[in-house]
Amino acid sequence: MSTLNDKVIVVTGGSQGFGLAIARALIAQGAKVGLISRSQKTLDKAVQALGAGAAFAAAADVADPAAVKQAVDAIAAHFGRIDGLVNNAGIARPDPLAEVSAADFNLMWGVNVGGVLWASQAVLPWLRKSDNPRIVTITSASARHDDEMSHLGIYASTKAAVERLMIELRQELLVDGIGVTSVSPGFAATDFAAGWDFAKLQRAAADWRKRSPEFFDGMTVDDIGAAVAHCFAYPRGVAVDFMEVRPIRPQIKPEF
Ligand SMILES: NC(=O)c1ccc[n+]([C@@H]2O[C@H](COP(=O)([O-])OP(=O)(O)OC[C@H]3O[C@@H](n4cnc5c(N)ncnc54)[C@H](OP(=O)(O)O)[C@@H]3O)[C@@H](O)[C@H]2O)c1
Repeated sequence: MSTLNDKVIVVTGGSQGFGLAIARALIAQGAKVGLISRSQKTLDKAVQALGAGAAFAAAADVADPAAVKQAVDAIAAHFGRIDGLVNNAGIARPDPLAEVSAADFNLMWGVNVGGVLWASQAVLPWLRKSDNPRIVTITSASARHDDEMSHLGIYASTKAAVERLMIELRQELLVDGIGVTSVSPGFAATDFAAGWDFAKLQRAAADWRKRSPEFFDGMTVDDIGAAVAHCFAYPRGVAVDFMEVRPIRPQIKPEF
C-alpha cells in the first residue's frame, strides 16, 4: 500500500461527524487536509483539534460553484498542491414524498449532487498534476436499503444519483489516472439530524420503528474514517470503485 506522506486531500464537510473522522484518519497516514464547510467557527475548532500544521480550512457552501472553487484555490495556495478530494458534505430533510417542499428538494439536490460536482470540478486541475490522484464520495446505504431511516426518499435519491455520477466521472477520468470511489455508509450517530424539524424527526423515527424494529447501532464515525483512508492507500493504477460499510449489531431503535 502507498503512503500519504506529503499528499494534500480536501475534505468537504470536514469540520465534524464523518468528515472530521476522515480527516483524522488521513492525517494518521501522513496526509495534510484542507477542510471546507460553511461555519467558520466549527472549522476553526476542527483545525485546532487536528493541528494547524496538518489542517487548513476555507469556508464555503459546496452548492455554490464559485465559492467552492475559491475555497479549493485557497487550500492549494496554502499547501502548494492537492492530490485528493473527499466529497463528504451532505444534508437531509425528512418528509414523506407526498409532502416534500420545493425548497427542501432544491436544498438536498443542490448540496448532495451539485456540491459533489462543483468540488470535483474545482480540484481537477490540481489532481491532474498529482502522482496518485483520487476522488472519494460519501453516498449512503439509504440509496439501496429501505431500513436505514424513513421519510428520506429525496435524500436517498440524491445519493443514488451521485453514485451514478461517480460511475460517469470514473470513466471520464481514466485518461488522467484518477481513481474515483463511492463509499456508502450505513447509520452512525452524528449531528446529521441537528437541523431537522423535531416533529418531523419524531414522525420519521416512529415510522422507521414500524418499518424495521431492529436498529443497527454498532458503527462509529471512525469506522468510516478508516474505510476512506483505506481507499487512498492503493498505489496509482488501482482503485476501490464502490464500498458499503454498515453496522451488523442489532439493537432496539431509540425513542426520539
Ligand atoms: N450519519 C449517518 O448515519 C450517515 C449515513 C450515511 C451517509 N451519511 C453521509 O455522510 C456525510 C456526512 O454526514 P454526517 O453524518 O457526518 O453529518 P454532519 O455531522 O451533519 O456533518 C455534515 C458536514 O457537512 C457540512 N455541510 C453541510 N452542508 C454543507 C454545505 N452546503 N456546504 C459545505 N459544507 C456543508 C457541515 O458543516 P456546516 O454545517 O458548517 O456547513 C458538516 O461539516 C453526508 O454526506 C451524509 O449524507 C451520513
